Amino acid sequence: MLSLASAPCTVARVSTLDATFDILQCPSCGEPLSPADDGATCANRHHFDRARQGYVSLRAAHKGKGAPASGDTPEMLEARERFQAEGFHDDIAAAVLAAVPADARGWLADLGGGTGWYAAQILDARPELHGVVLDASAPAVRIAARAHERLAAVSADVWSGIPLRDASVDVALRIFAPGSADEVRRILAPGGTAIFVVPHGDHQRELGHGLKLMKVPAGKADDVAASIPDATLVSSVEVRQRVELSVEQALDAVFMGPNAFHQDRVKVGAVLEGWTAPISVTLAVTVVALQVD
Ligand SMILES: C[S@@+](CC[C@H](N)C(=O)[O-])C[C@H]1O[C@@H](n2cnc3c(N)ncnc32)[C@H](O)[C@@H]1O
Ligand SMILES: [Zn+2]
Repeated sequence: MLSLASAPCTVARVSTLDATFDILQCPSCGEPLSPADDGATCANRHHFDRARQGYVSLRAAHKGKGAPASGDTPEMLEARERFQAEGFHDDIAAAVLAAVPADARGWLADLGGGTGWYAAQILDARPELHGVVLDASAPAVRIAARAHERLAAVSADVWSGIPLRDASVDVALRIFAPGSADEVRRILAPGGTAIFVVPHGDHQRELGHGLKLMKVPAGKADDVAASIPDATLVSSVEVRQRVELSVEQALDAVFMGPNAFHQDRVKVGAVLEGWTAPISVTLAVTVVALQVD
């Protein structure tokens, strides 16, 4: 099998998705995955499909409580893509990129990476990295599969285990996304870096006024920094700004997140029309970078 670690010059001749077989493992049994005619298979003959749109679907039989994660809908992804394209998350992206070692090489894994917006920017700036987005949302990974020539995409529920091999990843990202720190630790290679974006309690707080909205779930940067006990804290950088939003932009800020599952855009829009635009909104996160030995 092709090893990117030993043969980086071959990357251009095989697709990044083919190359991910160096690091993929079966979500059902944890054995390494190999390419099969129409997808991927492991020694225990678990089989996974490769979608025509260029991603591998590593959805195991659901073991957890409740419904399996299905991830963001196309409408949520469109709202997030518009919001990111307007530049509102550029400062966060710059802080994430600054946390990626300048000489990073090997594999980047973007966990809950959505459309690959962050991963693609990092791959542009770090030519020795190749990346994989893992996300529960099939429409998201369809977009991520086309986001960068060195970026592959995998549909997976990261809560039920990350389908990547132990110590296979040099940079792991978890940006506004769920997942277990133990699993992040497991996939990190020696010397690897994990980067987390942790929203503060007042992130987008103004959008909750008068609307019964779910807040972006806040985390505590200190807890995240301590979540991998044997890691060293490399940096913890607060990104705090106020952005001025039109009603449509404010609606995108609300509907790119889980409120989209519970709220009606037309009804929320009717409330926001009564507010004085531009709507001034706080963005506040901490970007935490940890490194393991
Ligand atoms: C708020 S979005 C952030 C996306 C991306 N990190 C970004 O900031 O552009 C959260 C992402 O996590 C994904 N997600 C939610 N639950 C998941 C799970 N259990 N496994 C994998 N992805 C999940 C969603 O589909 C969505 O793309
Ligand atoms: Zn298996």
